[in-house]
Amino acid sequence: MPDKATIRERIEKLREEIRYHEYRYYVLDSPEISDAEFDQLMRELEKLEEEYPELRTPDSPTQRVGGEPLDAFEKIEHSVPMLSLSNAFNEGELRDFVERVYRLAGRRDLDFLVEHKIDGLTAVLRYEEGVLTLAATRGNGIVGEVVTENIRTIRSVPLRLPEPLTMEVRGEVYISKRDFQRINEERLEQGEEPFANPRNAAAGSVRQLDPRVAASRSLSMQVYDLVNLEGREIRTDREALELLQSLGFKVNWYRSCRNVDELIEVCNEWTIKRDDLLFEIDGLVIKVNDLALREQMGTTAKSPRWAIAYKFPAQQKTSIVKDIVITVGRTGALTPTAILEPVHIAGSTISRATLHNEDEIRRKDVRIGDHVLVQKAGDVIPEIVKVIKEKRDGSEQVFQMPERCPVCGAEAIREEGEAVIRCSNVAGCPAQLREGILHFISRDAMNIEGVGPALVDQLLEKGLLKDYADLYALKEEDLLPLERMGKKSAANVLRAIEASKDRPLHNLIFALGIRHVGAGVARVLAGAYKSIDELARVSREDLEAIDEIGPAIAGSIVNFFREERNLRVIEKLRGHGVKMSAEGEGEAAALLEGIAGKRFVFTGTLQNFTRTEASEKVLAAGGKVSSAVSKNTDYLVAGEGGGSKLDKARELGVTILTEEEFLELFK
Ligand code: IVH
Repeated sequence: MPDKATIRERIEKLREEIRYHEYRYYVLDSPEISDAEFDQLMRELEKLEEEYPELRTPDSPTQRVGGEPLDAFEKIEHSVPMLSLSNAFNEGELRDFVERVYRLAGRRDLDFLVEHKIDGLTAVLRYEEGVLTLAATRGNGIVGEVVTENIRTIRSVPLRLPEPLTMEVRGEVYISKRDFQRINEERLEQGEEPFANPRNAAAGSVRQLDPRVAASRSLSMQVYDLVNLEGREIRTDREALELLQSLGFKVNWYRSCRNVDELIEVCNEWTIKRDDLLFEIDGLVIKVNDLALREQMGTTAKSPRWAIAYKFPAQQKTSIVKDIVITVGRTGALTPTAILEPVHIAGSTISRATLHNEDEIRRKDVRIGDHVLVQKAGDVIPEIVKVIKEKRDGSEQVFQMPERCPVCGAEAIREEGEAVIRCSNVAGCPAQLREGILHFISRDAMNIEGVGPALVDQLLEKGLLKDYADLYALKEEDLLPLERMGKKSAANVLRAIEASKDRPLHNLIFALGIRHVGAGVARVLAGAYKSIDELARVSREDLEAIDEIGPAIAGSIVNFFREERNLRVIEKLRGHGVKMSAEGEGEAAALLEGIAGKRFVFTGTLQNFTRTEASEKVLAAGGKVSSAVSKNTDYLVAGEGGGSKLDKARELGVTILTEEEFLELFK
């Protein structure tokens, strides 16, 4: 039995390590260890805290999602009111602002900071002696709501600081564009109303009464302001941001400018570059850097005189709905799409917008002939924001969802509790077949390069594909008569199809096209069941016992393997020699002691293999490979002529192996 002091030490050590890796992952976006290794650390800590509950502290990384659901949020008055910003919509207004600042300051040699204006929800964090004690929303600027439990679930927010500081930190809580899309897809699937924009999604998540729901929303927070810092003097905004950065916060992007021309340049730059960001920004905030000067300039009732928000031109335009068409997807879902009078928005021409499903059309009341406001944000699919009803002249036509599949004519059915209408002809609808095959060959599925939609369409037309398994029956003489198909391209196509027979199990599971089973769920399933046959036999209950699998997914999997038709296709795949198990896929069996979990770096020229081959050997045995030596490196393998990496390894005391010693590890 280890004594209490040893346990306490181990717990503290684990917490420190976990905090560091959370910081690498969530703040720097640059993890040093795998998710599995991270989970392992977390599990060890959880176990110790369970055994020794008296050593559990609220700032432990295990305690992010702890609180019970609330009945309502408490209100709190802000220690310093959270003001709004006045806006500048163009260059002229920006120049006016800068001139006003110069006048109020009585000088023109000033430093400005420019920052992203993230389209999220403003929040304030209170730290007392280095511990996060309170988090609140902005509310009306005077009074906000206490949302501490929910903010604690955001992993880029430190629960404890490396220094015992007392202060308040302000910033934006937001959801990435990608997570926003994912959440909305889930909501639509469940017949719920989608969030109008990432800001609403963030607000909806922060204001969840159940912290577990908030935790599931992948929120992030970037900070840009520091107030009420005790016991330390800060003179500029830049100093504040640097301090926050050093304390482990994810700090807003910022840049210094010395004059209005530089400011305008930065604004123009981000007007274009904003699309490349993973999160939505709706403008930039321009602030005077010097804090004493800010004090001198003061505020109006609503906003500070030393700052302004530069707002980007809208990414919305008006257009006209010329038609509404239906596309049929892989699972038979009938999706309505609006055909628009083409408009240019943010660098692209928009001529279609998704309407998602019947409920969406009704909710927005979109009719053919309507004038509509269209929005494009980043790389998301264009959407109709709203109908401009004032422009109606009575000639607009209400759209009715078809009662039959527009492709095969079979009955279209809306199942209870579903928002989607589906073509009922699962076995025979050409559209479902086509989309199913395109899914099967796609990258995360069987990844058959060289076979694309054009080729699939020709093969379908010739009647050569009745299901995706027929791909494996194709012969040269089937391909040669097709357009643009010579002997060489035919050989390439056949080789690519052949190569796909050996894909890992999770690719195959995803490729089957089971409803609700995306690439991520497929990986989970492949980890839990080692073959298609095992998966085909599993019960709903067993599936639901897996964390990531809910009732909808479980039901869908079980139903899939009950369908005679699906089983026949699987037998066909097997008959063609497609690998049906996780056999030979690394994992536990191949893990080698001395290699698993260890981090390798290679330098110089190896005699027995290329560096790529050596790396693959390490990875297959459960090890990791990096390109640079750091304190986390376990081994540097040195071939002929290694240079600076050797010096670095010696300096850090990393074990250096010759090629022979390296090979020895695999014996
Ligand atoms: S500074 C006194 N910097 O935008 C106001 N605000 O429309 C000082 N916001 O309520 C705020 N990004 O919550 C500042 N980089 C940024 C910001 C930012 C977003 C919010 C802020 C403010 C609102 C004004």
